[in-house]
Amino acid sequence: MTQENNIDAALSTENASAFKSGQEDFIQQGASDKSDEVLIAVKDLKKSFGDNEVLKGINLNIKNGEKIAVIGPSGCGKSTLLRCINCMEDPSSGSIFFEGEDLADMKVDINVHRQKIGMVFQQFNLFNNLTVLQNIMLAPVVIAKKKRNKNKRINFFRSIANLFRKKDNRKPLVPLGKSIAEIKAEASSRAHALLTRIGLDDKADAYPATLSGGQKQRIAIVRALAMEPKVMLFDEPTSALDPEMVGEVLDLMKKLADDGMTMVIVTHEMGFAREVATRVLFMDGGVIAEENTPDKFFTAPASPRLKDFLSKVL
Ligand SMILES: Nc1ncnc2c1ncn2[C@@H]1O[C@H](COP(=O)(O)OP(=O)(O)O)[C@@H](O)[C@H]1O
Ligand SMILES: [Mg+2]
Repeated sequence: MTQENNIDAALSTENASAFKSGQEDFIQQGASDKSDEVLIAVKDLKKSFGDNEVLKGINLNIKNGEKIAVIGPSGCGKSTLLRCINCMEDPSSGSIFFEGEDLADMKVDINVHRQKIGMVFQQFNLFNNLTVLQNIMLAPVVIAKKKRNKNKRINFFRSIANLFRKKDNRKPLVPLGKSIAEIKAEASSRAHALLTRIGLDDKADAYPATLSGGQKQRIAIVRALAMEPKVMLFDEPTSALDPEMVGEVLDLMKKLADDGMTMVIVTHEMGFAREVATRVLFMDGGVIAEENTPDKFFTAPASPRLKDFLSKVL
């Protein structure tokens, strides 16, 4: 998909109105008929920080609609793997393909790639100087404005070039699309619709500092959803929460899973992994040491390392 298509999809009135109704799923339907298609392919991924080789050859295919739970001891490289997939770290060697495109390929626009990936961190990472609504609207508005400005630039150069072209040879100007006011109005109505879905629309004008940890994390999740990502990566999304707030965040993630979202979840919540994941991976020593369906993973771990790990966390 080109950048234009992606942005058009993100901002189409059709999608905005679907969210307005408040009856629809969090994500667009249609992903399901692509199930079994590999969305992300990680091939022999290695990553070192100085002499410290953290990822020692990760191979992983993530299919549309899969919910993959990643567990493993602290420091084994779980966050580094997610950060490589989201282009926040460059692999030392190996490749990552997203919808068949090699991310290392210079032709792949990293920003366009990132729009397709929602990432949720342990520490929420909301902008504290912006209201809840502004947090959710920010990225979609910035992207739509960029597209508009790009079209303006194209038109500027085209109109100059057209001065030197014969009348029947002139290139038409690109439609600018929505006005800035329309872009903002759509992003705002979509943000309100998402907030309504999670029962937090009354917090639209509040600042993050006034919210509980659970509310912040749910808002961080819908902020990522506002970009209509194809996959959501969660890096220990409940680890920083007080125990009584873990449930509300896991419930939202469950809803997303039920809606068909493709998800990769680094978590210590074994009950959640068992219930929601379609596949569980055990990372240890920089590799995927074991993987299985949740049932087999937890009831019949094969390696002594996983048995030992589970005996400590279950
Ligand atoms: N930016 C970095 N610079 C140097 N070392 C790093 C960096 N990020 C992670 N590491 C190291 O990589 C190892 C794996 O880290 P991480 O991926 O965060 O593990 P996990 O998420 O499984 O706890 C750790 O030893 C950590 O210190
Ligand atoms: Mg980590």
